[in-house]
Amino acid sequence: MLKDKNILLGVTGSIASYKALLLLRQLKANGANVKVVMTKAAQKFVTPLSFQVLSGQNVYTDLFMPTHEMAHITLAEWADLIVIAPATANCIAKIANGVADDLLSSLVLASAAKILMAPAMDGEMWTKPATEKNVEVLVKEGVRFAWPEKGLLASGKTGEGRLAPESVILNEMERFFKKKEDLVSKKVCVTAGPTLEPIDPVRFISNRSSGKMGYALAKEASERGARVTLISGPTFLKPPPGVDTIYVETGEEMAAAVFKVFETTDILIMAAAVADYKARRPSSDKIKKDGNEFTLELVKTTDILKELGKLKREQVLVGFAAETDPSDAYPLKKLKEKSLDLVVANNITLKGAEFGSDTNIVIFFDRNGKKEEFPLLSKEKVAENIFDKIHEFIH
Ligand code: CTP
Repeated sequence: MLKDKNILLGVTGSIASYKALLLLRQLKANGANVKVVMTKAAQKFVTPLSFQVLSGQNVYTDLFMPTHEMAHITLAEWADLIVIAPATANCIAKIANGVADDLLSSLVLASAAKILMAPAMDGEMWTKPATEKNVEVLVKEGVRFAWPEKGLLASGKTGEGRLAPESVILNEMERFFKKKEDLVSKKVCVTAGPTLEPIDPVRFISNRSSGKMGYALAKEASERGARVTLISGPTFLKPPPGVDTIYVETGEEMAAAVFKVFETTDILIMAAAVADYKARRPSSDKIKKDGNEFTLELVKTTDILKELGKLKREQVLVGFAAETDPSDAYPLKKLKEKSLDLVVANNITLKGAEFGSDTNIVIFFDRNGKKEEFPLLSKEKVAENIFDKIHEFIH
C-alpha cells in the first residue's frame, strides 16, 4: 500500500524521537519514498545523520537552507502524506493555530497533503484542555491521529501519552491510500436530518439534527462503490456527489420514502432524528394565541426502524441512539426491539458529541453482543468505521 508513496516524516522533540527511526526503517522496507524533516528540539534527542543513513536522503532541518531554496514549498508539494511522529504538544498547538515558524510547521501550512499525527508527551500535557482543544480543531480539519497509548511515561509516571506503536502508525498510514471498494453492487439507503411535524402552517415540532452524520454516511457509501439513496429531512447541507437524494419534511413522508426503497435495499441506516410525536390534528389555519395556556394533543409517529425490523429479510439494519444517559441499557433495548444489526450510540452530553458538531464519540453495540468504544473522531471517520463494521456482517 505504501510502495512508491511520497511520505514526509516530520520528527519533533520528544524522548520518543528515536522511535521515528524504527518507523522510517519500516517505511523504507514497505517501498515508500521518505524525506525527513526534523525540528530543532528533535535534533537534541537524535542526530539528523541517523535519519540520513536510514532514508538515504539529506535530512531537512532549517527553513533557510541555502542548498534547498523554498524547501517548505517544494516538500509541501512533493508529499502524498505528512506523518508527524512523534508530535509534541507544541507541534500540535502550532499546527492547530496555523503558526509557521520553522520548516515543519511552514510546510504543513503550505501543503494540501493529508496529515497523520502520532502524539507523544507527558500525560498531564495530553489531557490539558489546551491540548484537547487543539486536537479537536485538527480532527475537524480532517487531520488523522494515531492516538497515544497508556503506559509508563518518561517522567516515571503512568499515564496516557506514549507514542502509538509503529504497527498502529503504519496501519493508519495505509488507510489513507486504501481505496475501499467493498460496496460495489450494494444498494444503500441512508436517512438524515430532522423531520418537521406541522402544528399549523407556521409552527412545527422537530428534533435537533444537523444531518452531518447521515450525509457523511451517504458520501462514504458512495465512495466505496454503493448505489446510494439519501432520504433527507430539512438541512443546510449539500448532497454528496453521485447520491440520489430525496427530500422529505415529515416523519410520515420519510417513512413512505424508506418503505418504497427498502425491498431492494441491502443496507439501511436510519441516521435521521425522526420526531417521535406529531400533532393529532394539525391546523390548516394559523392558530391564534388565545389565553395563557395552549394544549396540543400529540400522537406517535410511525417508528420507521421498528417497522423495518419486522419486514427485514437479508438487509443490514443500522440505527442510532442519541442518549444523555451513559447506560448501555437504552441502546441495547433499541437493538433488540427494532431487530437491528448495529446500534451506534452517542452520549450527547459529551464534549465533541453535541448536536451540530463535526465530530462524534460513539459506541457500537452489534447483533452478536459485541460492544466497541471509539474516541473523538470526525463524522467522516465514524462513517468509515460504520461501513467497516457492516462489511463484517456482509462477508
Ligand atoms: N427512528 C425511526 N422512527 C421514528 C423514531 C426513530 O426510525 N419514529 C429511528 C431513528 O432514526 C434512530 C432510532 O430509531 O435510528 C432511534 O431510536 P428511538 O427509540 O426512536 O430513540 P429515541 O427517539 O431517542 O427514543 P427514546 O426516547 O425511547 O430513547
